[in-house]
Amino acid sequence: MRVVKAEFAGACYGVQRALDMAVKASESGQGASTLGPLIHNPQVVAELAERGIRAVEGPENVERGSVIIRSHGVTPAVRRAVEARGLPLIDATCPHVARAQKAAAELARRCGRVVVVGEAGHPEVEGLVAHAREAGGHVVVVAEPDDLPASLEAPVGIVVQTTQTREALDAVVAALAERGIEADVKNTICFATRQRQESAAALADEVDAIVVIGGRNSSNTTRLADICALSCARTHHVEAPDELDPAWFAGCESVGVTAGASTPEDQIAAIVERLEAL
Ligand code: F3S
Repeated sequence: MRVVKAEFAGACYGVQRALDMAVKASESGQGASTLGPLIHNPQVVAELAERGIRAVEGPENVERGSVIIRSHGVTPAVRRAVEARGLPLIDATCPHVARAQKAAAELARRCGRVVVVGEAGHPEVEGLVAHAREAGGHVVVVAEPDDLPASLEAPVGIVVQTTQTREALDAVVAALAERGIEADVKNTICFATRQRQESAAALADEVDAIVVIGGRNSSNTTRLADICALSCARTHHVEAPDELDPAWFAGCESVGVTAGASTPEDQIAAIVERLEAL
């Protein structure tokens, strides 16, 4: 059975950077806490816990050691709360997210009204909203054009959650244009997600079965599995090698492997090794 890995798969730049920073912090021996699980990957979170890196809900739960900000970033208020406790801060905010936060604040100052295209309640979106509000903006979060308030008037600035699609942004921009509002758009989409989705779809088309690796609580991994299932009926979402069932691959000549943006390289390698052994 031929095992083929997707061209783009696994931990994106921002997640890998956050993981590397956390591992480095663990080597200091002082212990560290992440504000929420560092990534949506239970195995990695457990490994970090063994290294003395624990996930906490907020800065108030940290007594000692460093505080690690995740790749999603935080609100300015959370950052101030960490600083007020005098705890060392390790900022693993993905540089793409930091750019979006800066854009949200700039648009708030320039336009007064900011539309954030993204998933309400997602930690990255909460950060973007808070950065825009701190800069004096009135902010709404929309996932699609129907979410735009009827009362919205120009000038309007638009900023996008990094993992959104270009189509979602274009639909909101077009809906505002129809109302005669020429929005000031900062396209802050990061292409890591799209690259993973497009290469998973291409691979799912050419193999007999495909394995999607990543946390079941990871929305980008689940989305990859959904995309693969559209063209490959034998799509299996797993977290670890021991979940692989040889019966899934009966009669297969080729099996594809892809992984979500929160799946580190060693987990992918372990699955590939197990598949090759089958
Ligand atoms: Fe950063 Fe893009 Fe990953 S925003 S955390 S590199 S998906």
